[in-house]
Amino acid sequence: MRRTKEKSMAKKKTAQPAKSRGTAAAAAIRDAGKFLLPTYKRPDVLFTHGRGALVFDAQGKKYLDFLGGIAVNALGHAHPRIVRVLRREAARAIHLSNLYHNSYQGPLARKLAEWSGLDRVFFANSGTEAMDGALKLARLLAYKAHSEGAASEGKTRILALENSFHGRTFGALSVTSTEKYRLPFAPLVPGVEFVRFNDVADLEAKFDATVCAIVLETVQGEGGIYPVSEAFWNRARALATQHGALLIADEIQCGLGRTGRYFACQKFSAKPDIVLVAKPLAAGLPLAAILTNERVAAAISPGLHGTTFGGGPLACAVALEFLRTVEDSALLENIRARGEQLRAGIAALAKKFPIIREVRGEGLMLGIELSVEGGPFVTEALRRGLLINCTHDHTLRLLPPYIVSAAQVREFLRLFEAVLAHTPRAASGSASAATAERTRLAQAAAR
Ligand SMILES: Cc1ncc(COP(=O)(O)O)c(C=O)c1O
Repeated sequence: MRRTKEKSMAKKKTAQPAKSRGTAAAAAIRDAGKFLLPTYKRPDVLFTHGRGALVFDAQGKKYLDFLGGIAVNALGHAHPRIVRVLRREAARAIHLSNLYHNSYQGPLARKLAEWSGLDRVFFANSGTEAMDGALKLARLLAYKAHSEGAASEGKTRILALENSFHGRTFGALSVTSTEKYRLPFAPLVPGVEFVRFNDVADLEAKFDATVCAIVLETVQGEGGIYPVSEAFWNRARALATQHGALLIADEIQCGLGRTGRYFACQKFSAKPDIVLVAKPLAAGLPLAAILTNERVAAAISPGLHGTTFGGGPLACAVALEFLRTVEDSALLENIRARGEQLRAGIAALAKKFPIIREVRGEGLMLGIELSVEGGPFVTEALRRGLLINCTHDHTLRLLPPYIVSAAQVREFLRLFEAVLAHTPRAASGSASAATAERTRLAQAAAR
């Protein structure tokens, strides 16, 4: 009784009238416009909180979140198990320094090794930092092989794929193919060459003993949801083994359950040397991991790589709880079932709306390729209380949380049908160079 009274008093104290909430939100948006570097083009919406697959804006409007913070909020918002661990650990130790052991780094590394079948882990803070670390490991291995007489000098080339995205720091940007991201920052890290997506002949032509690593996203995310083919993966593995190079799988977006498997590359029998994960790992706290086999791990020694924040006790405790929740709640099954339901629903909509050219992806990582610009559909979806985004101009991207329910998928399909019906068509992509490029990629993805 007393508790209820206290709760309602606390609510009264913090609850703001809608008008003043609106004014505070408008002021926050004005401050952002005036004081932030303009790195993002944002709509005039301010989100305040979320619950499960829903988020709410400052006016109290509800949105169905089918973007999940771009693949981060895999357990949705305010998941009770995550909130419980956050509260408990925040009151114990947020940071302790990598100079010492903490209670969660080792157990989290063990769990990631069990999930992946790899052996050792380095914790970083972001996807791009994990990629830079992996590139350093590739160069280090080649350097050691040369100093031990096992490789010739100049084994420094790195192969990456066309249409890739690996991050924004210099290393990761150097293996990212998109010109508009790269060009203004040249010169980038030297020695990188791009292979045509899923083109085995091009891969064979470019791979030789001077290559120290091939880097690829198992399912390209920012590039428009394109899965690497089994033939390409197997050839990349074989060539990497033949030339003593590393196969590095970037699973920062597609890993940790997203495709209905712990790792997207587990659909192939051949294993990579390194897997990178980040986005959903700590349920929204910044945490990334480089997972390696023993051969890679053997090259590193204290002092060669490190980080201040990576692998702190709070982030690792939350990550461990995230992985256990995926296991305990049978979420892989839900990801596969909801993914099938979504695909079937979108396929039905495609019959009604011929602007849907193709649906790609696996599990809860789906791309809906349109024959027109996707941006206006994202805007209309937002207006109707649905969060999605558009990547590479024409592909609508869906990354809903793993906990999404069958009813929420039905709600998505209802909202999405209205979005398709009411969005003004911006431009036909029929004659554009972008369309030609997309067609080429789609053909390569089908190989
Ligand atoms: C496949 C992939 N790699 C790397 C990154 C970079 O990760 P971060 O933004 O955490 O640096 C991203 C981010 O979108 C990504 O999707």
